[in-house]
Amino acid sequence: MSTQPPSSTPPPQPSNPGAGRPGQPTPESAAASDSGGSRSGSASDSLLARLIVERGLAPQSEIDAAVAALRANAGQARIFGDILIDAQIITRRQLARLRNEAESDKTILRIPGFQMIRKLGAGAMATVYLAKQVSLDRLVAVKILPKQFSTDQAFIERFYREGQAAARLSDPNIVGALELGRVGDQHYFVMEYVDGETLHDKIVASKRIKDKDALAIVRQVASALKHAHAAGFVHRDIKPKNIMITRAGGVKLADLGLARAMSDKKTAEAERHKAFGTPYYISPEQVRGAVDLGPPADIYGLGATLFHMLTGRVPFEGRDPTEVMRHHLESPLVPPDQIVPGIPQSTAEIVEMMMQKKAKDRYQSAMELIEDIDLAIAGQPLRYARAEINIADIASQVEGTAQTEIQESARPDHESILGKVAIAGLAALCILLIVLLILK
Ligand SMILES: Nc1ncnc2c1ncn2[C@@H]1O[C@H](COP(=O)(O)OP(=O)(O)OP(=O)(O)O)[C@@H](O)[C@H]1O
Ligand SMILES: [Mg+2]
Repeated sequence: MSTQPPSSTPPPQPSNPGAGRPGQPTPESAAASDSGGSRSGSASDSLLARLIVERGLAPQSEIDAAVAALRANAGQARIFGDILIDAQIITRRQLARLRNEAESDKTILRIPGFQMIRKLGAGAMATVYLAKQVSLDRLVAVKILPKQFSTDQAFIERFYREGQAAARLSDPNIVGALELGRVGDQHYFVMEYVDGETLHDKIVASKRIKDKDALAIVRQVASALKHAHAAGFVHRDIKPKNIMITRAGGVKLADLGLARAMSDKKTAEAERHKAFGTPYYISPEQVRGAVDLGPPADIYGLGATLFHMLTGRVPFEGRDPTEVMRHHLESPLVPPDQIVPGIPQSTAEIVEMMMQKKAKDRYQSAMELIEDIDLAIAGQPLRYARAEINIADIASQVEGTAQTEIQESARPDHESILGKVAIAGLAALCILLIVLLILK
């Protein structure tokens, strides 16, 4: 796939958007003029013809014959659809359905080598389609940047960076990147198709995810992060919508769209204070617009995701993104086992350690997190989160001792009172002597 940064190498040149694929009618072959798709052929007629062939409703030869009939009868103002029905290529019902599909299909980008099948979903910056990669006869997911963003250079650069970042990572828990390019002024990113659902969908459907299942999901994402972090990337946008669950129950981390080489200081400087990421799962350092994000930023996002899975609600809510972000910065986290009493203490401790406000207080690597998850699953004492608790225990013990001392000192102590009286007497005697000396 194309992996050159847009700044150094321009994104791939437009392929020929008008060129048809073998076995597909082009606007020229299906339509003679552009009269609104009714009489002598139009762009929507050619789209209709293409859909018929793609759906396997008729071979290309029958379409060509219908187009020939349309041309021959141009003077009689015949409708292409009627010709298809008369020739028993399609039924009237199929025609109506295909016309509807053709309408929505007009907005889908045509990418040479791919047959777009249907929309999979849309996020804040792009739309994702299911498509067939013709050469390899396999299903893929194609993310398409909306046209209006094509003029936004910073946006395009981020889009390309997503592909480049993903292309460098090959891991069973990471959605594979396959191709990157553009058609006309629209950019696209082809990736491995994940037949399943997002973790967000799963949470919405099941409200809460059981402790062991949630830990198993987090463990797989942590494994993906271990790989990404080792390669020098911080994902920066860990959230349930970017975690895909396959039908077989496998977990795949998607959207390295905000990933950035940790060494890319120049870009980091440019993005300073922009607070990238989604507020519900964003780390405090990202809220502050920190430049030097490290693995703990992703661990925080994953901790917020785990919190959401376990409790069915996000860690901090607010009227607007600013309020949510302020909570991430300042508000203490309500431990998940206080919200849902059945959650094991070890799982709650893992969440709390992942979501510490200061990056240095969190797990420092995905490896450490995996170690604690494995211990929690095995029912053994945690290594890292436990240490954190021990410090807290020690702190409370110290506090307890101090309080005892305060209480002790508050008690009347006759010996110390006598000592204090003696010292005060001596001091008074000294002052008297000094005064006498001065008067002399
Ligand atoms: N590789 C994929 N395979 C299958 N479906 C996918 C794939 N990538 C994305 N999707 C689907 O497309 C939807 C849109 O994805 P996209 O990354 O554009 O936005 P998002 O992550 O949902 O939200 P946001 O833009 O807020 O980050 C996803 O929610 C998911 O349902
Ligand atoms: Mg996404």
